Amino acid sequence: MSKVRIGIIGTGYIGNVHGRIYTGDERAEIGALFDIVPERAEAAARKIGGKVCSSREELFDHCDAVLVCTPNKTHVEIAKDAVAHGKHVFCEKPFAIGLEAAQELLDSALSSENVFQVGHNRRYAPVYAKLKELLGEDRAHSAHIKMNRGELKNPEWTGDVNVTGGFLYETTIHLFDMMRFQFGEIEELVAYGSQHEYPELDEFSVIFKFRNGFHCTFASSSDASWIFPFERIEVFCHHRTILTQEMEHLIDSQGWDANFDTHSWAMTEKEERWGYVQEDLAFIDAIIEGKEPPVTALDGYKSVELVESVYEAIKTGKRVRFD
Ligand SMILES: NC(=O)c1ccc[n+]([C@@H]2O[C@H](COP(=O)([O-])OP(=O)(O)OC[C@H]3O[C@@H](n4cnc5c(N)ncnc54)[C@H](O)[C@@H]3O)[C@@H](O)[C@H]2O)c1
Repeated sequence: MSKVRIGIIGTGYIGNVHGRIYTGDERAEIGALFDIVPERAEAAARKIGGKVCSSREELFDHCDAVLVCTPNKTHVEIAKDAVAHGKHVFCEKPFAIGLEAAQELLDSALSSENVFQVGHNRRYAPVYAKLKELLGEDRAHSAHIKMNRGELKNPEWTGDVNVTGGFLYETTIHLFDMMRFQFGEIEELVAYGSQHEYPELDEFSVIFKFRNGFHCTFASSSDASWIFPFERIEVFCHHRTILTQEMEHLIDSQGWDANFDTHSWAMTEKEERWGYVQEDLAFIDAIIEGKEPPVTALDGYKSVELVESVYEAIKTGKRVRFD
């Protein structure tokens, strides 16, 4: 069987991560690269191979599957174009900015026979896969979740709301998707937000209620420092707490006595610890086997819906209910 030819649009940080991973998958090859800064595509080609293209059109001629690895605001236009050219698409998070754009991209993805996968890598990270396995054997009652960042300065565009769509789109959306993955569909939320360091809302407190009765608190700050762990989920079950610390550790404490089991992935290579390797393999699996990818366009749409609902709840001061 011929190899899946990968085309990477946007050869910055994450484009190179995915490209490096595909150089190790014998079912795939790097077919083509395109970046609006040509030197970046040339530098990437020296490391991972692939034809450096001078336009998107040219790239489409040299690949079967497209990875959209450009800044947030460009995802919808590029991903729709790739779908229209009959390509399988891997779209980095966020799926879109705003509900209207998200609906457009969802419609486009659903109209295609090809694979459309969204880059919510954390679902594949061993720590979160383990959490899901443990929650499969015990019912979660409630949780406290945190997803912080140290700054919105690196890369520079992460602090530009016109590019990111807002802090929740840039960072917090990862664990918004994770909540659905671990705990199910959300019924309603209340949210508070404030602005301190950046010219946008940059500090959030949210309470979520789920359809199955589960509920959780969620805190997210853009300037909390990079103190470990910048992301954490603490889940409370029947005489049991399971907590995660970034993608490094999971601690599980059960019963009436002080005790705990610790699982660690601290020595696992980052690209696997963060789930990038697994999500890239899953994309090729879906293409070759003609099956639905683990994170679909609908999942991408729902993560955007959650972000928009939190901004809406803060703006109106009202709780938001999902029907
Ligand atoms: N899933 C994750 O964990 C994860 C991690 C990092 C970044 N991301 C997402 O990936 C995307 C890229 O982030 P990054 O950190 O790699 O950014 P980056 O700035 O390092 O790279 C982006 C690249 O895209 C290029 N570019 C910009 N507009 C373009 C266009 N219209 N056509 C072609 N190239 C264009 C830029 O020149 C740059 O080289 C963002 O949406 C970000 O949210 C996801």
